[in-house]
Amino acid sequence: MLIKKQTGIEIPSAEITPEHVYHSRRRFMKGAVALSATAVLAAACNPQSNTSNNVPRGSAATTGEEGSEVGQVAATTDELGDSLTEYQDVITYNNYYEFTTDKQTVSSMAGDFVTSPWQVEVGGLVRNPGMYDIDDLRTRFDQEERIYRLRCVEAWSMVIPWMGFPLQKLLAEVEPLPEAKYVRFETLYDPEQMPGQKSSWFEWPYVEGLRLDEAMNDLTLLATGLYGKELLPQNGAPIRLVVPWKYGFKSIKSIVKIELVDTQPVSLWMAAAPNEYGFYANVNPEVPHPRWSQASERRIGDLGRRETLKFNGYEAQVASLYAGEDLRENF
Ligand code: MTE
Repeated sequence: MLIKKQTGIEIPSAEITPEHVYHSRRRFMKGAVALSATAVLAAACNPQSNTSNNVPRGSAATTGEEGSEVGQVAATTDELGDSLTEYQDVITYNNYYEFTTDKQTVSSMAGDFVTSPWQVEVGGLVRNPGMYDIDDLRTRFDQEERIYRLRCVEAWSMVIPWMGFPLQKLLAEVEPLPEAKYVRFETLYDPEQMPGQKSSWFEWPYVEGLRLDEAMNDLTLLATGLYGKELLPQNGAPIRLVVPWKYGFKSIKSIVKIELVDTQPVSLWMAAAPNEYGFYANVNPEVPHPRWSQASERRIGDLGRRETLKFNGYEAQVASLYAGEDLRENF
């Protein structure tokens, strides 16, 4: 993710070399530099830089252990014929700011994150609120394989075979009340385990939200695994959201709370940079991020770039949700 806070010290990320970025971040971590957090973050995640999209293939230092096998992956492509992203890339190139802003060290930093026992509170404007144990969620709902494209707002993408169940099944159980208009999600808040949460750059915990009809769409998945294996911490274990037609930051990881509400939730990214990250965040090649184009993307593992598809290629399934709405206004 990239962010540019209104702090007054703003360094265009394109002007910062990767080496400079590296040293800036190091110094910042040691608390010795008064460089703005935004400059560091923007630079660390600059989609134009050579480093951010350079995934080391099979690098032993960062691969960590694989998840436990719980199923099999039959397909090798998505419905468009695009190849699956390699497992090693999916588990070693991550955005998880609760641990670090460095994509390539998330996996090693998150290795000891405790994901069991784990409970998810589901409540708010519902008839049947409840506390769900993760094991219960895994067995109560059939686990389906869904191969989805993940398009990060930073303009890189992957194709991932997820396992999980549609959020609509859980919502049907708790029965939203008529006043419920939105669903609000929260990630665990535990700064001892997640050192990134000690930083005051963001309002923790990570929060995301969907409109109720988006949450009820069949594509919207609560994922518990990928590639036929249990989710690893770096990918949001033990349970995360996957909303494939929206930028990746909507797909909140390590969820502990799901709440039905009547007002539009303010996500962590909306609070941090409202002019850059909106509530809807639908993938839209026609609407550039204020600081870079969204017209194309780099598929991890590929050379070169490809055109970004409207709604990330899921237009047929979701465009009707926004009929008559201004997608530029509601970005
Ligand atoms: N969820 C939490 N709690 N914290 C995060 O930093 N990053 C988001 C999203 N979910 C993030 C998060 C972003 S920006 C992206 S692109 C995806 O997770 C990346 O998912 P992946 O690392 O499994 O590919």
